[in-house]
Amino acid sequence: MRLVKLLANLGYGSRKEMQQAIRHGWVTDRQGNRLKADAKTAHEEILFDDEPLDPAQGVVLLLNKPTGYTCSTKDQGRLVYDLLPDRFRMRKPALSTVGRLDKETSGALLFTDDGTFLHKVISPKSEVPKVYEATLDRPLRGDEAALFASGEMMLESEEKPLKPAELEVLDETRARLILHEGRYHQARRMFAATGNHVTELKRIRIGALGLDGLDEGAWKALSEDEKALIFQG
Ligand code: URA
Repeated sequence: MRLVKLLANLGYGSRKEMQQAIRHGWVTDRQGNRLKADAKTAHEEILFDDEPLDPAQGVVLLLNKPTGYTCSTKDQGRLVYDLLPDRFRMRKPALSTVGRLDKETSGALLFTDDGTFLHKVISPKSEVPKVYEATLDRPLRGDEAALFASGEMMLESEEKPLKPAELEVLDETRARLILHEGRYHQARRMFAATGNHVTELKRIRIGALGLDGLDEGAWKALSEDEKALIFQG
């Protein structure tokens, strides 16, 4: 792909702006040689304004989402995209979230521009386990784990029972919940169905991929090994 198009697709600016950037010598290789518009330099060798380029197409990002941010590109209020560099919104193909977390849920959220990868993670067939830690308003009753694991639990206004989910009690009002599907507000609705209320919810793992010291509000691009962890759960 020509350099101008590559840079424009990564969101650095319009094609016209990228032609100017090349003319001004802002695009170089790691040795500081100015690149021309028809350069065939490898992506990882290219610097823009002395900084390595953003990840190429096919990227997967992991964000440690704080509460108070919405998984949308255009809702009012704070959006998860506000936590990424501005130019990421201009990328082509676009970066989408892989599934969603509620505004008041925190933790592991993936973004990608790779439709095949996105489908593989969210497809019910892949059954990628998602691990949540929930803090509850009231003490657990004691029968939640059996109900959640039954494969017969019905949520209000749904026609199919939930797939079996695992519950690990951490203390009286805290539990770890492992879901193998992603229905609307699923964790909150499951606890609500037992007469409880989730006051805090955090996704701590997707498959075997955890947040591993990633600060709240911080993100990173995943390596191939980290991507593979998602499917080992
Ligand atoms: N379950 C919920 O209730 N909310 C989320 O954000 C994710 C799972």
